[in-house]
Amino acid sequence: MNDKLIIFDTTLRDGEQSPGASMTRDEKLRIARQLERMRVDVIEAGFAAASNGDFESVRAIAEAIKESTVCSLARANENDIRRAGEAIRPAARGRIHTFIATSPIHMEKKLRMTPDQVVEQAVKAIGWAKEYTDDVEFSAEDAGRSELDFLCRIFEAVIGAGATTINVPDTVGYNVPEQFADTIAALIERVPNADKVVWSVHCHNDLGLAVANSLAAVRAGARQVECTVNGLGERAGNASLEEVVMAVRTRRDVFGCDTGIDTTQIVPASKLVSGITGFPVQPNKAIVGANAFAHESGIHQDGVLKHRETYEIMRAEDVGWVANKLVLGKHSGRNAFRSRLQELGVVVESEEHLNHAFARFKELADKKHEIFDEDLQALMSDEAITPALEHFRLVATRFHSETGETPQAELTLSVGGQETQARAEGSGPVDAAFKAIETVARSGGELLLYSVNAITTGTDAQGEVTVRLSRDGRVVNGQGADTDIIVASAKAYLNALNKLHGNAERLNPQV
Ligand code: KIV
Ligand code: ZN
Repeated sequence: MNDKLIIFDTTLRDGEQSPGASMTRDEKLRIARQLERMRVDVIEAGFAAASNGDFESVRAIAEAIKESTVCSLARANENDIRRAGEAIRPAARGRIHTFIATSPIHMEKKLRMTPDQVVEQAVKAIGWAKEYTDDVEFSAEDAGRSELDFLCRIFEAVIGAGATTINVPDTVGYNVPEQFADTIAALIERVPNADKVVWSVHCHNDLGLAVANSLAAVRAGARQVECTVNGLGERAGNASLEEVVMAVRTRRDVFGCDTGIDTTQIVPASKLVSGITGFPVQPNKAIVGANAFAHESGIHQDGVLKHRETYEIMRAEDVGWVANKLVLGKHSGRNAFRSRLQELGVVVESEEHLNHAFARFKELADKKHEIFDEDLQALMSDEAITPALEHFRLVATRFHSETGETPQAELTLSVGGQETQARAEGSGPVDAAFKAIETVARSGGELLLYSVNAITTGTDAQGEVTVRLSRDGRVVNGQGADTDIIVASAKAYLNALNKLHGNAERLNPQV
């Protein structure tokens, strides 16, 4: 059996369906570049037919990504498939992933179609997709609750029509490992043309079994796993990429296959996705949690010091944990700055962009002296907010906070290029800053989340703030970083307002 396990990342599609995780086109591009750097085989870039914004994002990723296959999801109808086909057209390698539900409950209650009609529609869908690319994936939505005989029938039909990957999703996270493995083994054995395709699984985590189910399926012969960075995804999320990849790598003896993933890019990917979506990673999360490699008990510490493998089955550096490395300081020049950005894979679009970023780097180096990779990444994230979106900008701040007094914020803001003053009191300086901004912006947005993270260690570390706002059903995340967390908070709030102001259209694909 083939010993390559294909990693299909759906952070930008299923991951984005996590409530509150919606991303802008530029944020998606940055994540796609990191996925490519990590050598993900297939990047599901979005659901092109869901909205113009989704179409543009898939297309931009298809244009930018050269090494990974770029895929768009599409329901099994002609319009969706043609939109997906157009969106992936510029890709060096493009895939269309089309799906239709196959469980009795979905066919009867949601689609209101008979099983015969579902098979007929699926076969037609493959035909439309084949007009755009040879690489066509078919998913039987809710396969985890579908009848085995019907799955065999529809899979045989779509393989006959030219599907090249067959995906078996446990859409509602209902399956358990042994039983899911039996399903995969039975499908591979019973579908007559099973050997013509790659068998794939896509597991949701409603019972906390997404990774276990995916790995059980690999043992049963699946050779593609669909997963997301940090396990992001609809409801309780999808199988987590980092856990699947490290399990097959660490226990090759059990799985008999391996991925092509550059595992040292896992932690940077996790941090990037967490920063952009505002979904923090729990400290005890396997592989990418802050404590995943920390030994607290004296017995463990003693053992690791004497012989690392007494308590460690993986090396922290193999998944990209590195001690904060001092990279640049206030005397570093433009070339050192440029080349470190290149090493980090950060794309600087023009000399003008570089000059602007370099000026901000100097300002930061004046305040902070030691600049780490994480600082550079946060600075470049800030830079990624395109000027066109910067309707609101922070010009200057003054805060007053004293024991027994009500905290006050006085801000100078630029609104559509015009400077204006804003002042308010609040229960703390952050609250005062947000209220001051609202005296001018009057956004009507509801604050859903406010979180602060130290980017590096030390009291001079930059604070990275995420603010999530919702208005009229739209949810946006704003980020800001600064050595002063109140300033970082104000920047994050303004970044979220800029996104609301930008009005980029977004529909949740499964609504
Ligand atoms: O969970 C699911 O069934 C999906 C499909 C569209 C693959 O996300
Ligand atoms: Zn899904």
